Amino acid sequence: MGQTPKVVETVAALREETARYRAEGSKLAIVPTMGALHEGHIALVKQAKALARRVVVSIFVNPTQFAPNEDFSRYPRTLERDLALLSEVDADLVYLPSAAEMYPEGFATRIALSGPAEGLESDFRPHFFSGVAIVVAKLFLQSEADFALFGEKDYQQLKVVTRMARDLDLKIEVVPLPTVREPDGLALSSRNRYLTPEERAVAPVISRALNAAAAAIRAGTQPQAAVEEARQTIAAAGLNVDYVEARHAETLAPPEGLGEPIRLLAAAWLGKTRLIDNMPA
Ligand code: PAF
Repeated sequence: MGQTPKVVETVAALREETARYRAEGSKLAIVPTMGALHEGHIALVKQAKALARRVVVSIFVNPTQFAPNEDFSRYPRTLERDLALLSEVDADLVYLPSAAEMYPEGFATRIALSGPAEGLESDFRPHFFSGVAIVVAKLFLQSEADFALFGEKDYQQLKVVTRMARDLDLKIEVVPLPTVREPDGLALSSRNRYLTPEERAVAPVISRALNAAAAAIRAGTQPQAAVEEARQTIAAAGLNVDYVEARHAETLAPPEGLGEPIRLLAAAWLGKTRLIDNMPA
């Protein structure tokens, strides 16, 4: 086990540390998180360490990406455990800003998004990507990191953030990493801990249905028919489906023709827990 990473809570303290890293000639990678870390986050930190000598992990449950009726207040906060996990993978720094540090009194700036932010999650969580975009842009600018690591589990988020960084000429490379899964296929998520044992047994139906749809598309089934079948499978298992859709894998626009790269994306409620997943077809 390595050393417990240093924790900083302000932009000024973060900048002091990152200036030191730059002075020693080190590259810096950032792994933005909301804490409640799991093996998916740890894989991001390991990859960050492979890309850059110094790694900062931000832990901030970002209020602007939650609607008033969502799980902001009950979102799991497990700081002691997170720090222990991060010490095992040699993270250098943990950035733990308060909401007041991130959004000072009178905060009045928004980022308007289109393109990959349209549809899918935005149809059900219209506030979500503007909250993600503003906090991620701030994290990029505050840290001045060379790399930012994001999991493909939140595929639309990955595409929104990648496009935003490009459009705003942010001097950072967004690096995607494949989804980490349980042996039965369930995508790792901090929200999986909300599931009852009975719900946990049912949850892998989403990845199974998406896998089956992907296989069907590769075998020649029309994407629309394949996702409709997946939707029915997931609903038949008792989940309340928000969407199951096939999209262009890069632009996230609805697919237009044969031969384009397709990504299947799904979101569904299992009891009080909203699960999302996606797969290449
Ligand atoms: O994926 C998450 O955990 C969050 O949306 C992120 C990127 C840390 C922004 O708050």
